[in-house]
Amino acid sequence: MKLIIISAVAQNGVIGRSNGDMPWNVKEEFQHFKNTTLGFPIIMGRKTFETLGKPLKGRLNIIITRDKERGFEFDDVKKFNSLNEAIEYCRTLNIEKAFIIGGGEIYRQGINLADEMIISFMNFESEGDVYFPEIKEKIWKPESREKRSLFEIVHYKRR
Ligand SMILES: NC(=O)c1ccc[n+]([C@@H]2O[C@H](COP(=O)([O-])OP(=O)(O)OC[C@H]3O[C@@H](n4cnc5c(N)ncnc54)[C@H](OP(=O)(O)O)[C@@H]3O)[C@@H](O)[C@H]2O)c1
Repeated sequence: MKLIIISAVAQNGVIGRSNGDMPWNVKEEFQHFKNTTLGFPIIMGRKTFETLGKPLKGRLNIIITRDKERGFEFDDVKKFNSLNEAIEYCRTLNIEKAFIIGGGEIYRQGINLADEMIISFMNFESEGDVYFPEIKEKIWKPESREKRSLFEIVHYKRR
C-alpha cells in the first residue's frame, strides 16, 4: 500500500487556521482533491474533521484523536488514537493506496512516514497560522508537475 500525503499550500506555506476552516476556496483544487482521493481511505486529524463537519463521501474517513472516549456518530468513519494505528489498519485492507489529508499536526508526523506527496502549490499567499512542514530536497524528488489556473500540482516521491 502506498501512503500518500495530499495538501494544498499557499506561497507562504500556510495551509489553514488553527481555529477555523481553510482560508481559501478554489473549486478546481477541491475537484482535484476529490478526483484523487475518491475510493480510498483518507486519514485526518480531529481538527480537520471538525472543519469538514461531516465525512467526505465515497471514501473511508479515518479520524485521529488522542481522546479515547471520543466517538463520531457517522457511518463510514473510523477513529484511532494514533497515526500509526490508522496506517496499520489501512494496510490490513489490501488496498492500493491511502491518503493523509491533514491538517498541520498530522502532516508533520505523516511526512516522515509517507511514500509520496501530491501538493497543490497555490499561486497566492494566505492568512493563517497552520503551515505545511518543510519539504526537504534531499528526501523528496519532484516526479511531475501539472499547471492549473491558480495552482501547480507537484507529485513527489521519496528518494
Ligand atoms: N490546505 C490543506 O490542504 C489542508 C488540509 C487539511 C486541513 N487543513 C487545515 O488545517 C487546519 C487544521 O490543522 P491542525 O494542525 O490545527 O489540526 P489537525 O492536524 O487537523 O488535527 C490535530 C488533532 O489531531 C489529533 N492528533 C494529532 N496527532 C495525533 C496522534 N499522534 N495521535 C492521536 N491523535 C493525534 C489531536 O486530536 P485531539 O485534540 O482530539 O486529541 C489533535 O488535536 C485547519 O485550518 C484545516 O482547514 C488544510
